[in-house]
Amino acid sequence: MNDQIEYPVENTASYIQPSSLSQRDAKVVWHPFTQHETAPFSIPIIRGEGAYLYDDKGKKYIDAIASWWVNLHGHSHPYIAQKVAEQFSKLEQVIFAGFTHEPAVRLAERLLEILPKNQAKIFYSDNGSTAVEVALKMAIQYFHNQGFTKKRKIIALENGYHGDTFGTMAVGAKSAFNAPFEDFLYETIYLPVPTKGHEMESLETMKNLMQNADEIACFIFEPLIQGAGGMVMYEPEILEELIQLAKENGVLTIADEIMTGFGRTGKLFATDYIQTKPDIICLSKGLTGGAMALGVTSCTQEIYEAFLSKDRKKTLFHSHSFTANPLACTAGLASLDLLLSKETSDKILKINQLHNDFKNKNVNYPNVQVKGTILAIEIQTAEGTSYFNTIRDVAYQFFIEKGIIIRPLGNVIYLLPPYCISEEDLGYIYGCIEEFLEEI
Ligand SMILES: Cc1ncc(COP(=O)(O)O)c(C=O)c1O
Repeated sequence: MNDQIEYPVENTASYIQPSSLSQRDAKVVWHPFTQHETAPFSIPIIRGEGAYLYDDKGKKYIDAIASWWVNLHGHSHPYIAQKVAEQFSKLEQVIFAGFTHEPAVRLAERLLEILPKNQAKIFYSDNGSTAVEVALKMAIQYFHNQGFTKKRKIIALENGYHGDTFGTMAVGAKSAFNAPFEDFLYETIYLPVPTKGHEMESLETMKNLMQNADEIACFIFEPLIQGAGGMVMYEPEILEELIQLAKENGVLTIADEIMTGFGRTGKLFATDYIQTKPDIICLSKGLTGGAMALGVTSCTQEIYEAFLSKDRKKTLFHSHSFTANPLACTAGLASLDLLLSKETSDKILKINQLHNDFKNKNVNYPNVQVKGTILAIEIQTAEGTSYFNTIRDVAYQFFIEKGIIIRPLGNVIYLLPPYCISEEDLGYIYGCIEEFLEEI
């Protein structure tokens, strides 16, 4: 360890006077998605309650992005905490090959009750990227096990994000994030995102691709909203047509509901807006109410059966040490209890109504979009739409100073709050957004 480390004091934003914890952090921790040469010290958070996080100086922040889109019911929710604590004293972890446990079975049963009816089996992993990896492996091996050795290509939407592992980077947008690894990423066929005005382009491309459907294993997409790609939204009708085309041509469809799942879009799942259901669904983030790491890949009975054989080589060889961790599954069950209550569905409706009120009041900002509990505003700047747009840091600092945590995606600022957020806090945030938009 280098005790002579130089702290980036000159780069420290004025609002963060480094505390002892942030200095210790800078010595030993490497943070995700962080350029440590220029980033300010990390803010030490010592407590969370409801929609609030508190730093070590007692400053309160409204968590307007649900801590990277995971937190559904507020921080340190007493009900989830109690259930997890009870489970801990019974069973905290057990190998999930050859063994099972009540929380995993019960969570699978309850998820299958609310997922589209064509979903029949739940495969556990431990985060969003791994849930997608499993989905892709399921799709490729589904055909491999049946001897369709040519069906190996994957179609994905342009501008997508499905995680940071190699397999998921390969189906995401090619960008500065994965440029150093470009040679290592397998080839993916991209489909234009069917945003307003681009529906036909997307549909025509899909129709053309389907002429070689005997080479295509699956089509993966973020349903209705591309999150990390800048909260890019498109309509259910066109997604329905794309899925239908894939299905008619024997191509498996994978809905990555890792961001959109569990009420974010106003319905329990984004795929609830469409009739033609995907074959595979990926879940994580809100799955445990944001309390613990857990991933789920659900699939149809038909897919599951393609792996049943006396030949052990047809097994889905995928596991993680913490697959179906009992504490995480318990958090998932507790989160479902809260999510399916009338109180939460009323709150989801209320957030949607308030977001729409904001949108309607600010008609002079043309780039405001709302879907369910998500509000996104694309700020027009000379730099154009980019993750590296410098307005991002200006906005981030402005809102932190106001006690609001947002994390703009370049020039797109968005709200994706825990469902427990109060009307008053949302009103305060809208006011700050208006002030920011006036100032710039
Ligand atoms: C749609 C989508 N898929 C996959 C992932 C990856 O999830 P994780 O960060 O848990 O690996 C994310 C994360 O933001 C996501 O938004």
